[in-house]
Amino acid sequence: MFKQNISITNGMFRAILESIDEGIHAVDHKGITIYYNEIAAKHDGLNVEDVLGKHYLEAFPSLSKETSTLSYVLSTKRPIYNKDQTYRNMKGSFVSTINTTLPIIVDDTLVGAVEIARDISRIKKLSDKVMELQAKLTTNTAKDFDNGTSYTFRDIITSDETFLKVKKWARKAAQHFSPVLVYGETGTGKELLIQAIHNASGRKGAFIAQNCAALPSSILESILFGTSKGSFTGAEERPGLFELADNGSLFLDEINSMPTEIQAKLLRVLEDGVIRRVGAVKTRRVDVRIIAAINEEPEMALKEKRIREDLFYRLNVVYLRIPPLRERRGDIPALIDHFIEKYNKKFNKNITSIEKEALEILCDRRWQGNVRELEHVIQSAMNFAENEHLSAEDFPYIKPRFTASSSESLRDVLQHTEWRLIEKAMESAGGNVQKAAKQLQIPRQTLQYKLSKYVSAQK
Ligand SMILES: Nc1ncnc2c1ncn2[C@@H]1O[C@H](COP(=O)(O)OP(=O)(O)OP(=O)(O)O)[C@@H](O)[C@H]1O
Ligand SMILES: [Mg+2]
Repeated sequence: MFKQNISITNGMFRAILESIDEGIHAVDHKGITIYYNEIAAKHDGLNVEDVLGKHYLEAFPSLSKETSTLSYVLSTKRPIYNKDQTYRNMKGSFVSTINTTLPIIVDDTLVGAVEIARDISRIKKLSDKVMELQAKLTTNTAKDFDNGTSYTFRDIITSDETFLKVKKWARKAAQHFSPVLVYGETGTGKELLIQAIHNASGRKGAFIAQNCAALPSSILESILFGTSKGSFTGAEERPGLFELADNGSLFLDEINSMPTEIQAKLLRVLEDGVIRRVGAVKTRRVDVRIIAAINEEPEMALKEKRIREDLFYRLNVVYLRIPPLRERRGDIPALIDHFIEKYNKKFNKNITSIEKEALEILCDRRWQGNVRELEHVIQSAMNFAENEHLSAEDFPYIKPRFTASSSESLRDVLQHTEWRLIEKAMESAGGNVQKAAKQLQIPRQTLQYKLSKYVSAQK
């Protein structure tokens, strides 16, 4: 077999390392710094020369063998992944980084360790700002008797039997204190339902929503539980969302993306109703109703360990599943009317209805983005509409998918039929390609290929 003969020179390695946007600090097995890049020097407020060739404990006198992550990795040969830290650097600035520290092992022998640091100071500052605003907003809105929500059960349009049942359970659950878990695909109306629950609950406190995805765990922890002055460098005395939502509801969105260590802390609050600000000794009792949302099948999140089992069962006291729009196509006409009315007001238009052909095209779509996608489609059409009925021409980007006329070629008709079968199989397999392929009796790769073709044809 042809083998590429690539040799990377030291110079090339260096050039690659210099172009990486992360701080890198490598030491040999004795702890002498053998590599330290400009980005790391910037984080630490030092010059590269201050550190290179020196023992890391000499270059960073504030560290000790007990506290240094490099010491831990050198002595245990175990890696540390994504540990976040906030510190004041040599120039006096606060820096927040996420570090991964790895042992360097060649031929079973430890030859050194490397620490890779990503600067998250900007995210941290931003989250502090958001927290400040949230605290202000909560205090002000509490005065205005407005709780920061805009939806009630009346705003949830549906005549679908399954969804009506969900609405009924949700109304009942609203009266109680039990946690609620809501599952629905994107755009199905989770936020709508959750706000409605809060508004029907009679709870006097605020409604506060927090998305749990994409935040490093230390930041999310401070946001949820608050911080105590002096708990870590730069920390302020500040309440977290649990305190701000006292006597109200805390909506934790995308709980399946919450870091597991925070899930453990959340479980404790659910169990004893007590929180402790990060770094504080004192505990505080809070009366907060937790409503969590998840945007993937709970079974899948559990199986893949994105949600802790103990937390799941604690949250799952009331479980509400919002059906995707394709399972309740009967709701589409009423939703269209609702959005026409909404955008008539916004755009100062007077559209009265939608023509049959256009309605049929819309009823037939897959609606992967659910009600939100439908709303955007109607909003876009109302920009184009020239008379008082929305017609198929007002939806130039949406083509009828499965209608075959005599002018169509055999190839087109066959393709439409194929797509229709694929879509049906995907629906009944709940989006699982493997299962759908089995149902269609074709290899998974073939289905994958056809799906990607289908998606690009839809665009
Ligand atoms: N049954 C409904 N009746 C009226 N409007 C709805 C309904 N369901 C959803 N909507 C509208 O659709 C949009 C999306 O809803 P929402 O934000 O609640 O979705 P979501 O499930 O939270 O989505 P995501 O997972 O992406 O956050 C909103 O503008 C909402 O007003
Ligand atoms: Mg949402």
